[in-house]
This record gives sequence, C-alpha cells and structure tokens, in this order.
Amino acid sequence: MSIETIVLKPDDGLTKATDLLLSGDCVALPTETVYGLAADASNEKAVRKVFEAKGRPLDHPLIVHIPGADHIKRWAIDVPELAYKLAEQFWPGPLTLLLSKSPDVSSVVTGGLDTIALRVPEHPLFLDILRQADLGLAAPSANRYKKLSPTTANQVFKGMQGRIKAVLDGGPCEFGLESTIVDLTSAAPTVLRAGPITRAMLESAAGITIEQPESHKVAVPGNVAAHYQPGTRLREYKTQDLASNDAPSCCYLFYSEEAGDLLRKAEVDPSRCLKVSDDCVEYGKTLYSALHKLDEGGYDEIRIEATPRSERWAAINDRLRRAQGD
Ligand code: TXA
Ligand code: MG
Repeated sequence: MSIETIVLKPDDGLTKATDLLLSGDCVALPTETVYGLAADASNEKAVRKVFEAKGRPLDHPLIVHIPGADHIKRWAIDVPELAYKLAEQFWPGPLTLLLSKSPDVSSVVTGGLDTIALRVPEHPLFLDILRQADLGLAAPSANRYKKLSPTTANQVFKGMQGRIKAVLDGGPCEFGLESTIVDLTSAAPTVLRAGPITRAMLESAAGITIEQPESHKVAVPGNVAAHYQPGTRLREYKTQDLASNDAPSCCYLFYSEEAGDLLRKAEVDPSRCLKVSDDCVEYGKTLYSALHKLDEGGYDEIRIEATPRSERWAAINDRLRRAQGD
C-alpha cells in the first residue's frame, strides 16, 4: 500500500477534501477530540479503505459522524427521547451516542453489530464538510491500529503517510482525548468510554443516573485493553517513587511540583522530563502530544506520574491504563 499523501490547508483544502470523500476516498480530518480518518459511511468500499489504512480488524465498529441531530433517523431506529435530550445539550461536541442500527445501514460500518455509534463533531472544518456533502462520515481516530491517537495533522501524516490520500490540517485538537461514548440501547444508559463529557455532566443534562463501570461485562470491540499504545513501554509510578532508580534510558511525564522537585534532586537530565498541567482538562489536551514526543526520543521506558483517581480524571486514567496494556 503506497499512495502519495497530501497535506491540505483549510483555505483551499476544504473543497478538495470534500471531493475526495464524495468520490470514495479516505481523508483524515480534524475534530475537536482527535483527528479522524473519514470516509463516506454509506459507501462500503470507502469504509473498507478505512479499515485497511488503519490495519483495524473488520469487527471493530466505526463511529458515524453526522451533520446534526435531524440526521439520527437516517442511521438509527427506536431512538429514545434521551438521545435527543443529550444531543440538544452536547452536540456538536465530544459525545457519541450508541443506538440501534437502522436495517438500511451497511453492517460493514458497524463491524457486523446491530448498534450504531453516532456523533456530531464540533470542529468547524469537519462540520462544514458534513453539511456541504450532506452525508454521514465514518471516522475512527486517524492512527494505525492500537497506536496513539493523533491530535495534530503532522502526527497523522507520520503515522498514515503512504496509506491515505490526504490530511486536512485544522490545527491542534481542542480536547485531545476521544469522545465520551454512551450506550442508550441497554436498560440503563451506560458510559462505555470516558471522555471530555463527564458522567456528572451527562447526569445533570439527563436528570437520571448514568452507569459508568470501570470495566465492561460485555466486551465492546475496540474497547480492548491494549489500545492507544506508544511504541515505548509506559509505566505509572506514584509521585514519591517517580525519580527513584533513574536510568538514562528513561524519560518522565509529570504534572506536580513535588515530582519536579524530586526529579531535580535526583539530578535527572531535564531533557528527559516533560511537565504537563495539573488541571485535568489541560492535561487531557496535551497527553497524546506529550506521549508522541517522548515516544520519538528512543527511550526504553516512559515513566508517568500517577494521576488522581477522581472521576474528573476518568478519561485520562482510562487512556493511561490502556497505554500500559493493563
Ligand atoms: O472522538 C472520537 O470519538 C474520535 C473522533 C475521530 O470522532 N473517534 C474515535 O473512533 O475515537 P475510534 O474508532 O478510534 O473509537 C470508537 C470506539 C471504539 O472503541 C469502537 O469499538 C466503539 O467506539 N464503537 C463504535 N461503534 C460501536 C458500536 N456499534 N458498538 C459498540 N462500540 C462501538
Ligand atoms: Mg481509536
């Protein structure tokens, strides 16, 4: 597989990206969460190209991005009122709703399942394309299977060069973590993947309890543990243990002043240390970029300062757990 991959700039790239999508190609597009690898969700051949470019197993379903809540019924049946309530509050935005698939929709996009994941992205370029083309775009994160999700066009290019037609550069992603996925097909609405929209936000909008199990009894394809992995081994350490046993082959990702002090005291070379924010929203924004950067340093291990276990950090803790392959 070797195709010339072009990087499109927003001003003149929007039309080109739309044309490529309408003619059945895949194009990486910016969203407010991470970059997505988009293809016309109603074109089976185009959708298959997404699986091929990512190296993703065919039974791992894709999220379909739609221009607005008025498109839900093109894709889903038996839509509960709650779907519209949540859509009104959070769309466009980083929330994906899992609904019952309409029989008219190809099961290639849903990996053979009879459910479908829908969301309206907030990034203006992606939304413009959806509205202009008036279609649904299947778009998983624009990384190779099990690798880190990209939050810049350059990261997409590095990972997917030669495998896709184009990347539309829309700048760095606003949230930096994938959308929250809520299953509305089961008796109790359940968060399947933690993300920028927290359970507390959902509960306050829905006015009912939303479940958020730490692990799922029903395995969701694509919700496998070994996901989002950088090439370099990643290990989490408690703050007080972070700087013990330093070795030149280790690098560090930390957020607290205390960890910074300990690393300085242990005389760890600052070039091997990367500080990120101690605010969970800011931390989430930069996590993947930080991991991409440390991954490129050729180290044996990325040591991560353990993050707070509170619910506000759920999305980050989920991604860090998976990045360690636990
Ligand atoms: O923020 C996001 O959601 C990004 C951007 C590009 O929109 N997309 C994204 O897609 O993260 P992906 O494919 O990397 O992750 C989608 C997750 C997978 O874990 C997949 O298994 C799950 O959603 N999913 C999609 N459709 C599903 C379905 N019908 N049933 C159960 N899980 C589903
Ligand atoms: Mg992904």
